Amino acid sequence: LSKSKIQFVCQNCGGTHPRWSGKCDHCNEWNTLVEESPSTGIASGPGRATKPGRVVEKVPLDGTTDEAPRIETKISELDRVTGGGFVRGSALLVGGDPGIGKSTLLMQASAHLARKGHGVVYVSGEEAIAQVRLRAQRLKCADAPVSLVAETNVENIIATLEAGERPALVVIDSIQTLWTDAVESAPGTVSQVRSAAQAMIRYAKQSGSTLVLVGHVTKEGQIAGPRVVEHMVDAVLYFEGEGGHHFRILRGVKNRFGPTDEIGVFEMTDGGLRQVLNPSELFLGERNGAAPGAAVFAGMEGQRCVLVEIQALVAPSSLGTPRRAVVGWDSSRLSMILAVLEAHCGVRLGSHDVYLNVAGGFRISEPAADLAVAAALVSSLANTPLPENFVYFGEVSLSGHLRPVSRAASRLKEAGKLGFEGATFAAGSEAIKAPGLRLNTISSLADLVVELLAK
Ligand code: TYD
Ligand code: MG
Repeated sequence: LSKSKIQFVCQNCGGTHPRWSGKCDHCNEWNTLVEESPSTGIASGPGRATKPGRVVEKVPLDGTTDEAPRIETKISELDRVTGGGFVRGSALLVGGDPGIGKSTLLMQASAHLARKGHGVVYVSGEEAIAQVRLRAQRLKCADAPVSLVAETNVENIIATLEAGERPALVVIDSIQTLWTDAVESAPGTVSQVRSAAQAMIRYAKQSGSTLVLVGHVTKEGQIAGPRVVEHMVDAVLYFEGEGGHHFRILRGVKNRFGPTDEIGVFEMTDGGLRQVLNPSELFLGERNGAAPGAAVFAGMEGQRCVLVEIQALVAPSSLGTPRRAVVGWDSSRLSMILAVLEAHCGVRLGSHDVYLNVAGGFRISEPAADLAVAAALVSSLANTPLPENFVYFGEVSLSGHLRPVSRAASRLKEAGKLGFEGATFAAGSEAIKAPGLRLNTISSLADLVVELLAK
């Protein structure tokens, strides 16, 4: 290989550099450059093509195409996130921390499909056949007709897949272990992962099989190295969970064929992953109603309402700069709520430590949680419990006004179903009926503070 062909590729963003340096110019990460030789399979740049192109068919935009054919796994929490099952011929990336349960989930899904008569090939590059079998026994799905393949070379995998009957589902566990002859770099490097994924995705598109790639996530929350793979696949699902908690959340972050705001909730048990069809019951499970600093938020995750408890602890600080710590919510959003409480509601928190926790290790991204957070903070500061069996939702603006949030009716319905007695939420223009619930609509954060501190 001539020296000019060597390049340095950032393992974080895939950016290329002609020479090594400590920092990647593209994404500013340190120590991420690795020497790689460019893949020989793809001609790059003008003037490289050596044979004339072939004329391909042009078709009109208007025409009939079948609705993306899907195969349902019947694991409804998984089907919810994919948008109704695996789409044939599509590629899906399932990312997550090591040990979170990706292999378990995919083995269970594979077994379900295989039992229903779909061909399933499970390619394990990470674990030996014996280990995969042991897991299948533990999951009580060793009897399912899943074909196992222990191989990491892409050419061999594709030859194996093409030799047999076309499978409906191919699982690659994991993409980081694959390597192709076309690239000289080590497995796991960006160019290997990119080329391997490209070859596998091409196979999926041509054969009509669904391809599931498993990818490990690094500490920074990126699918290790091959962030590039995210752009190549049709859907990206993250499997997440907090250490010490048994439940796991499957979250869609990209989906060409379905929603991206849905979550699937599972619980890791001794016998594998169990679906949690009503997550609110799980997140509210250990609630001790009348404690100061606890507020229940009625949140939406896709089409489903999830009730979670938000816990705050506000205590006088012994430090010059008080501590602010958040688990499960955005810390800049917390700073904003604290600032609004100070500026518009006369609540002084400048010399207090503030801790905020979303119970059960759940993670909330909706601004609709603002009101519940504020209620929890004020309740803790005043050392007064909030009215028992109330839920809270509403977005707080910088002026201290509350903005109504979407799907209020669904949130109230779920609260009623779970035995809550009332709700405090942002007043909106739409008239909302919720039989059996005491509705307390407020229009500014100051109203809430006055209400709570009056007690
Ligand atoms: P695994 O699916 O191997 O994780 P990943 O593929 O994401 O690395 O799951 C590993 C963890 O799950 C491990 O800590 C053991 C636990 N586990 C259970 O608790 N119950 C089970 O039935 C199985 C198969 C695993
Ligand atoms: Mg695994």
